[in-house]
Amino acid sequence: MISIWDLANPQLREITVYQPGKPIEETARELGLDPGAINKLASNENPLGPSPKALEAMREALEKGHLYPDGGGFCLCNAVAAKLGLGAENVILGNGSNEVLEFLGHAFLNPGDDVVTSQYAFVVYKLIATSFGAHTIEVPSPDYQQDLDRMLAAITPKTRLIFVPNPNNPTGTLLSQREIDHFMSRISENVIVVFDEAYFEFLDHPPDTLRFVREGRNIVVLRTFSKIHGLAGLRIGYAVGPTDLVQVLHKTRQPFNVNSIAQVGALAALEDDEHLRDTKRVVDEGRAYLHEQLAKMKIPFVPGTVNFVMINVGDGHAIFEKLLRRGIIVRPLKGYNLPEWIRISVGTMEENKKCVAALKKVMGD
Ligand SMILES: Cc1ncc(COP(=O)(O)O)c(C=O)c1O
Repeated sequence: MISIWDLANPQLREITVYQPGKPIEETARELGLDPGAINKLASNENPLGPSPKALEAMREALEKGHLYPDGGGFCLCNAVAAKLGLGAENVILGNGSNEVLEFLGHAFLNPGDDVVTSQYAFVVYKLIATSFGAHTIEVPSPDYQQDLDRMLAAITPKTRLIFVPNPNNPTGTLLSQREIDHFMSRISENVIVVFDEAYFEFLDHPPDTLRFVREGRNIVVLRTFSKIHGLAGLRIGYAVGPTDLVQVLHKTRQPFNVNSIAQVGALAALEDDEHLRDTKRVVDEGRAYLHEQLAKMKIPFVPGTVNFVMINVGDGHAIFEKLLRRGIIVRPLKGYNLPEWIRISVGTMEENKKCVAALKKVMGD
């Protein structure tokens, strides 16, 4: 009998379906607990929830749910562009910034091409590259820090895209402006550089990559409303790039790829400086607390720069399971070839304290 795998695109055999953070409801069901008793620190979401202004705008927008959304996202693209000092023609919206990764695949990848990224880089780059039949070159990241010189050296004549998450997830390590400038001064124009800045707004001194967009270089900068803006469930993110590059990406997207509720919510969230400030403060305090407690417990960790911390617990999966039984969901990192490590998202202080208390218990078990 013929197997479905004889019919499917052969590269799909190599793909392991993305494993998201374990959902609260599923965990509550399995443990027989109330969902309210579960703390999810597994997906780097906003511990304060959505921007209240976004919530209000989205409730209102539901009344117009019978109408198709604005396909080009006119209002939001203009608002994003105004914030960044660019034109709306430099912005494209995605159903999450991850969708833009797929646009990049459609636009630039063919079977046999190469993409370059780092060891431990956000896993979706490889998933997308593989799904288009491209090969992913992952260069070593000594001490979990991305090495841009090695990435440059890894470029082949078949390299089309180079993915640079900054900071990277799950390691949390950050590249400096100096490293980025040096890299950009050496990269060939035959390769498109993708700076993934999903956590940009959490940084105190974020490197500036938009200068390369203004210079018309072959770069794409990805940002999202999933993190500091608290709209992960709505699925909305964006990319900025030079006009001609963005025009290419528009050709690859579905006519109504971003729903109207998400667009309206994102527009309101973008202007909600108070929610942004509050979230950053809670995350800064929470991250400092986690660092301090981990140091006290003598648990090795890679100091975080944004809303998560990667820690070495010896057996990541076992500790993940033990924390789960105590109602704390974290992220095991075996899929990143980091079996000793887990990633903890910074939560509210109450959640962070519960997590530390549970860690103390399970590390002593
Ligand atoms: C580095 C990085 N890029 C992109 C994303 C996904 O963003 P979105 O929800 O906008 O698709 C994440 C989410 O975890 C991330 O860590």
